[in-house]
Formats: sequence, C-alpha cells, structure tokens
Amino acid sequence: MMGSNSTADVAVVGLGRVGLPLALTFADRGLSVVGIDNDPVRLGAVRDGTMPFEETGAQPLLDRVHASNRLTLSERVADAAQARHIVITLGTPSFSHIEIDMRDIRSALDDLLGVLEPGHSLILRSTVAPGTTEFVAGYLAKHRGFEIGEEIFVAHAPERIAAGRFLEEIDTLPCIVGGVGARSGEVVGELFGCFEAPIVQTTPVQAELAKIWTNILRYATFALPNLLMIDCERYAANVFEVIDLINRDYPRGGIAQPGFTAGTCLRKDFTFSEERSAAPGMLLAVSRVNESVPLFLLEGAKRRLGSLANRKVAVLGLAFKADTDDERDSLAHKLIRLLERELADVAVHDPRVATPTVSFEEALDGADVVVVAANHSEFRDPRALATIAERAAGDCLVVDPWNCWGGAQVFAYASELVVLAPTPPRG
Ligand SMILES: NC(=O)c1ccc[n+]([C@@H]2O[C@H](COP(=O)([O-])OP(=O)(O)OC[C@H]3O[C@@H](n4cnc5c(N)ncnc54)[C@H](O)[C@@H]3O)[C@@H](O)[C@H]2O)c1
Repeated sequence: MMGSNSTADVAVVGLGRVGLPLALTFADRGLSVVGIDNDPVRLGAVRDGTMPFEETGAQPLLDRVHASNRLTLSERVADAAQARHIVITLGTPSFSHIEIDMRDIRSALDDLLGVLEPGHSLILRSTVAPGTTEFVAGYLAKHRGFEIGEEIFVAHAPERIAAGRFLEEIDTLPCIVGGVGARSGEVVGELFGCFEAPIVQTTPVQAELAKIWTNILRYATFALPNLLMIDCERYAANVFEVIDLINRDYPRGGIAQPGFTAGTCLRKDFTFSEERSAAPGMLLAVSRVNESVPLFLLEGAKRRLGSLANRKVAVLGLAFKADTDDERDSLAHKLIRLLERELADVAVHDPRVATPTVSFEEALDGADVVVVAANHSEFRDPRALATIAERAAGDCLVVDPWNCWGGAQVFAYASELVVLAPTPPRG
C-alpha cells in the first residue's frame, strides 16, 4: 500500500552521523530518498557533495549518490511525507537530571501529524527509552485516529552500527525491527530488506531494550577495568599486569583494557534505563566510574609532579574514541577543563577533529606532562613516542591509560618509555 501522494521511497529525518550514511546507502541501493535536516550548513555540505564528518567510505558513496540524483534534500520535516517510509534519525539526548529529552522527536512528530496518510510508515531509528515507540503510535492514534499496524505503520529499528563501520556493518549486523500492531514489522522489514543483513522481528519494547542494553553492556564492560585502574593506583599495583593475570590462559577471563569511556551514545543511553530502573544507582555508579577517569589521571600526575600550575600539559586527542573526528561528549574536553582549573598551561593536538588544535610538535615542545586522551592510530605509532621523547621535557610524565606503546604503565616518565621508541633515522 502506498501513501497516496508518495513520490519517494524513503525519507530520513536528521542527516547526522546515523541518518546521513543511512540515507546515502538507501539511495545507493536504488531507492529514491528525501534527506531532511534543519541545519542549513549540513544540508549545504551534502548538497555540495562534501561529507560533513568522517565515516569510512562515505565520501565516494556521496559522490555516487550525487551522480545518481536519487537524493533530494529539504529543511522541512513535513516534506518527509513525500516518501512512503519515514525514518527518524534525530538526536535523543537526556537531561542532566536523568530524564530523557524527547523534544526533537516530539517536534518532528508534530510537524508530521497533519501530513501523514494511510500507507505511511514511521520508523524510529534513533535510540529511544522503553515505551517510546508505543508512545509515538499512541500519539498518532490519538491525534489522527489511525489504526496503527493496519493504516499507518510504526516500528523501532534501532541503529547499532559503530561510528566508522557503517558501510561494513549495514549488510551484516542483524537488523532488529519491533513493529506496533499487526503489520508494522512486516512493512518496515521490507524496507530494510534492501540491505543484506538478516531482519529480526520482535516487539517494540524488546527492540528498545535490546539497543539500550547493547550500549549499557559496553559502558559497564569498560567501567570495570577503569575501576581496577583506580584501585591499582591505591595499592601501588600495575593495572596492566593485573589484567594480564586475570586474562592469561584463563577460560573465564576477558576483562577489557582501561581508557576514556564516553561519547554521545554511551554517556547518555544508560539513562534510558536508569530513568525507571528497578535498581536505581547501579548504572549511575558505572557512569561515575567512567566519568572519574580524567580526574583520576590528573590527580595521578599531581601525586608524581606536585602542582600543575604553570606547567605545560600536552593533551593528545580530543575525539571521544580512537580514529574518529567525533568529539561530542568526549572525556578529553572534561580533562582539559579540569587541567585549566589547576592553572596548567594546556596544549591540545588532535589530527582528526574539526576544533582547531596546535601541531603535534607544538603541543609537545617542552611539555611537563603528556596525556593520551584518545588513542588514535597516529599516536599508537611508535614514532609518535620517539617524537614525545625528543620534544617534551626530559623528565616529562607520560599518562597513557591505553598502553599505546606497550610500556604497560599508566604513568611513566618519557625517559623510561623511550626504550620502546624506534631510533629516529639520521640525516
Ligand atoms: N552516532 C552514533 O554512532 C550512533 C550510533 C547508534 C545510535 N545512535 C543514535 O542515533 C540517533 C542520532 O544520532 P546522531 O549521532 O546521528 O545524531 P546527530 O546529532 O549527529 O544527528 C541529528 C541530526 O538531526 C538534525 N536535527 C535536529 N533537530 C532537527 C529537526 N527538528 N528537524 C530536522 N533535523 C533536525 C541535526 O541537525 C543533526 O544533523 C540518536 O538517538 C543516537 O543515540 C547514534
């Protein structure tokens, strides 16, 4: 059944890190796509054929889609009704007081309310709190009297692809579809059938829980080695050696490595469960552990060097994780704020993000402390360690929770690590 005025196959509302690669991939698979975003700068970039952010393989994809003319762009959410399927990929933040922030979804729904017709399907691709898909269906039924699952189709089809892996995973990660009413799952499954990944049908709330808890699992998984790192410092133990003792040849081991654990998804998705948790506090504790890592590193540097006031601290990496240009909700920013409160002279270098930073050499020159905040592959290169040893102060403290160069110390002096660096070529 087509919406009577459908002139496109699918509309994607919100051309962000999730929506844009999805819209481009739909178009690349032969669908006619309406891409909608209220940010004119973003729309302008896409219109000009420039990816507004890094996503592996996305620029050639955008080039192909441009040439195909299968993507039209609009600033108006209501234009989504030109398509039979409407996929919502808007941001779903939470308020700081553990309450989900539905404003973007509500505003899109209100824009769509008057223009939806029988035959349309509305798909929540954004991460949403349990019950949101049923809320959306109820909202459409309440205000327009639609029978959901018969006249209009509503489903949650959560995005579980990691940034940077979109094109690799869209055809392989099982696509969860939780449809409301009799036929929503089937109709939405047909849309996502243009990809090769298996479609797994379930209920809306199970789809919501599966997505949220996929991320909670990762968030909690990384909190454990982070807490262990903090504990090890108290006992003058080496976290990397303890992790090796736990995991080595032990069939039930598998503790992860420490590091900065945040980013726009992990930092807020746990609140979607925490908001109504039967065990309030457990996930808050997980969050507090991960959120305390920047302060732990700063305090560790102070324990070794004394006051950081007027001392140069080089922060390497602003992104929330390795090899991305996404710095939203990155703990590097928190670390920098904390360092500034110590009156340290902070110099930042990140080769990937949009925020301007100084060069690698400039950040390192005469640094008393170097903190690896994001373990980009550029920093993991042993030649980066050689440059640190060469440029930073001789007794410079290197703070590396990632163990980038195999030195296996969170806090080490450059003079200790330099043996791991390759000898610079002469001449
Ligand atoms: N980034 C990820 O790796 C990732 C992975 C899985 C799931 N998710 C989830 O996917 C959703 C989207 O995340 P994202 O990172 O792509 O967000 P984003 O902020 O990058 O993208 C949202 C886009 O929507 C646009 N927008 C905001 N309000 C709008 C409105 N009223 N009308 C039209 N456009 C509007 C913004 O300009 C932006 O381009 C979130 O729920 C997120 O939790 C994200």
